[in-house]
Amino acid sequence: MTLRKIVTLPDPVLRRKARPVTKFDKDLQTLIDDMVETMREAPGVGLAAPQIGLSERLIVVEYYEREEDEENEDAPKKVWAVINPEIVKASAETLMGVEGCLSIPGLLGEVERHAEVHVRGLNRHGKPMKIKAKGWLARIFQHEIDHLNGVLFPDRAVRVWQPQTPEEEEDRV
Ligand code: NI
Repeated sequence: MTLRKIVTLPDPVLRRKARPVTKFDKDLQTLIDDMVETMREAPGVGLAAPQIGLSERLIVVEYYEREEDEENEDAPKKVWAVINPEIVKASAETLMGVEGCLSIPGLLGEVERHAEVHVRGLNRHGKPMKIKAKGWLARIFQHEIDHLNGVLFPDRAVRVWQPQTPEEEEDRV
């Protein structure tokens, strides 16, 4: 596996609408594995292909599957690779939360997101998949899918600021 370089603002690829993935070949498998590796090394809990300079609709996420596990450090995390992901359902209920982004180092923002979303897409082999995500996991999916449309968290934030201490850094995506 190869670590890919994470691109940061003002790279224009981050503002482009990414194109759908159509080929489920060996190169795609390598790309997904590289993205998971790059996300872990960063470290981050999500990564979208435009963040490594590829304008394609592909995201990876690694987080607790169950909302109740968020407080439990020993709980296993799950890895998702979702191709051409779409939010097909979103709760009316929203939550405020603090987000950071691997492509915008040194900035945090308070962002309102749907508390629950249903995401539909294809898995790494091109088979349809559906994910029901709540809480922070739902936030990660919304943040990553925004990346595929050239939307970045400061666009949605009610306020942004520069963290003064490393402890202030949140899970980055
Ligand atoms: Ni991000």
